[in-house]
Amino acid sequence: MAKIEKSKISYVCQQCGKESPKWQGRCPECQAWNTYVETTVTRSTAKRIPVRGAPARKLSRIELKSTDRTPLPLNELNRVLGGGLVSGTISLIGGEPGIGKSTLLLQVADMIAGVRGNAVYVTAEETEHQIKLRAQRLGITGENLYLMAETDLDVIINELDNINPGFAVIDSIQTVGLSDVSAAPGNITQVRECTLRLMQWAKAKDVPVFIVGHVTKSGDIAGPRALEHIVDVVLYFEGAAFSAYRLLRCAKNRFGSTNEVGVFEMADKGLVQVENPSQIFLVEHEENIGSAIVPVMEGNRPLLVEIQSLATTSYFGMPRRVANGVDFNRLLLIIAVLTKRAGLRLGNQDILVNAAGGLKIEEPGADLSIALSIASSFFDSGVKSGLVAVGEIGLSGELRSVTQLERRIKEAARLGFKYCLIPRSGLKALPPVRGIEILPCSTLKEAIFKGLIRARRLTRGEEQPLVEEEPPVEEESG
Ligand code: TYD
Ligand code: MG
Repeated sequence: MAKIEKSKISYVCQQCGKESPKWQGRCPECQAWNTYVETTVTRSTAKRIPVRGAPARKLSRIELKSTDRTPLPLNELNRVLGGGLVSGTISLIGGEPGIGKSTLLLQVADMIAGVRGNAVYVTAEETEHQIKLRAQRLGITGENLYLMAETDLDVIINELDNINPGFAVIDSIQTVGLSDVSAAPGNITQVRECTLRLMQWAKAKDVPVFIVGHVTKSGDIAGPRALEHIVDVVLYFEGAAFSAYRLLRCAKNRFGSTNEVGVFEMADKGLVQVENPSQIFLVEHEENIGSAIVPVMEGNRPLLVEIQSLATTSYFGMPRRVANGVDFNRLLLIIAVLTKRAGLRLGNQDILVNAAGGLKIEEPGADLSIALSIASSFFDSGVKSGLVAVGEIGLSGELRSVTQLERRIKEAARLGFKYCLIPRSGLKALPPVRGIEILPCSTLKEAIFKGLIRARRLTRGEEQPLVEEEPPVEEESG
């Protein structure tokens, strides 16, 4: 047991870890409200295991071992980790309760158990019995997998030393604690000390360690900044509650790109990887009124996503706008541009937009499809069949190009789409793509004409053009 050098009562912000001698309503560091908790802060309680007593060496003299990176038999996870698990690193995986963190890590622990020797799965939340039940469901016998239900990190590390495993999982970091740190488990001081301690162990033994982190209401890992600085890799596991698809995103990776996304599906026998995910967010149907398809980039990988919209006459003074899976302010911008620059009279329309499959789309490249789906529902006219659309919409109604246009178009062509609406400015840098017709457009209005079967509206059986050739010029009042 290390000697406690110094201990004092102080107040610690649970968001960012800032200490203060007195309680404060708002943290001056991270501006969070009501996050100070009284804590007995003890200094240097963690055992300092010397990482390596070696003198400094020339970079050119350092040799890499092939065992430094262990590829897993789970490609989607390899992709996110940048090729495999790196020895002696500590990775943090966060996500909402019930998303499948424990399931994923139990599966991973079992996979590695064969490859790197024994693996240890430490649970501080569930009982051995519960984990055994889950393992049975996953079809894991666990010949080389040790299970431990324990919350005291000293005991855990002691046992890890005994087993000397090739991989360890701590589920979760908020529920384990060190007895010589007086703060309660979950308190930022405790979480930080425990992570540091685990990291020292991982580095000393050259073993990869995974820790599970709970997320706060806003979706960050509790004690977010403090933890993210310490660990080597930060992963977020996310997905909509009603959908079986899960995305594993990388927020920090010291050994690879943070651009990668892994796609999994929660099946009844655990998580299965989805290796060819571009189609899963498309909905199968014949009639395509109010629906447009966009190739978005999730990291470095194109996904085809269907955007659905409904525009109906509002019976209230203030028409409603609802955005599901797309950014609300972006939607308001698109509606404003549709009204002012393309001449659609949307002022009395309730507009609801939904990204299919529970995906959250953040990139502005989806603007054009959102606009197209709204126009399609408004005109009660389908989007041309076999058409995808991508492009950012500017305030004056112009279309702007997006990154990685070629890869998006190729993916659409691969899945059998016939037309692709793109911003004209993207045409210059675009090499020819076979099997798909490119429809370049300069303005949103032009895109609506090219993308919809009929850009006018049927009223009482008669066709009434609503997109006028020249939208009315309004006097600027200044
Ligand atoms: P879990 O891994 O316990 O989530 P977390 O650790 O992130 O809180 O996942 C639990 C959910 O996953 C639960 O709602 C049931 C579901 N599930 C399946 O659908 N199939 C399975 O094979 C397993 C093990 C769980
Ligand atoms: Mg869990």
